[in-house]
Amino acid sequence: LYLKYHVKVHDYFDLIILYIGSRIYYNLINNNLEDTMKTIKKKKKDNLTKDDLIYLMEVEEPKELEAIFNKAYEVKKREIGQRVFYRGLIEFGNYCVKNCYYCGIRKDNIDVERYHMSKEEIMSSVRWIYANGYGSVALQSGERRDPQYIDFVEDIIREIKKIGDIGITISLGEQTEETYQRWFDAGAHRYLLRIESSTDRIYKSIHPNDELHDFETRVNCLKLLKKIGYQVGTGVMIGLPDQTEEDLVNDILFYKENDIDMIGMGPYIPHNDTPMGQQELNIPSKQKRVELGLKMIALTRLYLKDVNIAATTALQGLDPLGREKGLKAGANILMPITTKDEHRAKYQLYNDKPCIDDNADKCKGCLEGRINSIGEEIAYGAWGDSPHFSKK
Ligand code: 5AD
Ligand code: SF4
Repeated sequence: LYLKYHVKVHDYFDLIILYIGSRIYYNLINNNLEDTMKTIKKKKKDNLTKDDLIYLMEVEEPKELEAIFNKAYEVKKREIGQRVFYRGLIEFGNYCVKNCYYCGIRKDNIDVERYHMSKEEIMSSVRWIYANGYGSVALQSGERRDPQYIDFVEDIIREIKKIGDIGITISLGEQTEETYQRWFDAGAHRYLLRIESSTDRIYKSIHPNDELHDFETRVNCLKLLKKIGYQVGTGVMIGLPDQTEEDLVNDILFYKENDIDMIGMGPYIPHNDTPMGQQELNIPSKQKRVELGLKMIALTRLYLKDVNIAATTALQGLDPLGREKGLKAGANILMPITTKDEHRAKYQLYNDKPCIDDNADKCKGCLEGRINSIGEEIAYGAWGDSPHFSKK
């Protein structure tokens, strides 16, 4: 009897403790949620402070995260509409003069089969992009600065302009002012050059310490591009070793300070044949890197409002629904890979890059379904310039 009674008392006691505990937990979450809502609902333009951004960047509770993403999506809808803009991405060559510690096509990786697409191959991809109403083309390659390459790119840009009314984004690394100007005069009007990390300490730790990989030079390139008149895009990798929430917030502040028009950023994904991929580095889990990536998109949208933000392939590399989640967290640009099938697998900057076994036609149908499933429309035929740039 005593034992039975004793157990019962314990049961009641445990239940009461459990109840009180759950109330405290419930209140804690809801108080946090209230704080989070208050922070993201600040009305006046640009009045999220650095501390607000850090507070939001540290949020991990699913309900609070959802509130942040929803609010960012609202801002995206208001500024841009329920539309997604495409840039057909052509990765036309994987020769690179640089040796970034994280990248699979770095110069010293001898296990990569190098390729350079011919003019005819590139133009055939461009024709496909135009015929399918993608509105804009994005040209990307490893970094090269030899005169032959510079002439080749200039010629390609001129040829693309002859095809029809199609926007041209290029992402071809650090070049001289003269080269940037030549490509601009040929008809390219947007340039993507990721700063990779705006924190000097991190930049230095993920690149060799020499003049080919100099932080100041890279920042200066962004300034040159702006001076020439490009719409300028930059971005960072997310979840790098030793990267704190504050570092990421500083990246967002960097976008603002440099009056950036377009943002392309995604999680860091190790590549086996790179110095960083071969070390046991302390980086957040895949899931955390996706979460951080989505928070970066959402907070950039909340802070900068009218810029173009891409939901990158790297997000999908870590989460099959990564790109859709990116769009729901405030992104408005997708860059479907339209590189010729035979070259796709050779442009692997990180392990397990998605879509390398696909072709442009298959990707088109697949993406359309994914976008419609979240209630968004593809703005076929539109250039999709950055509203931030157009307002200037
Ligand atoms: N993980 C994620 N992104 C990478 N990039 C290069 N290597 C990796 C990697 N391992 C990104 C860089 C570069 C862009 C072309 O690809 O940010 O600027
Ligand atoms: Fe070359 Fe760009 Fe890769 Fe660096 S990130 S090694 S510059 S392709």
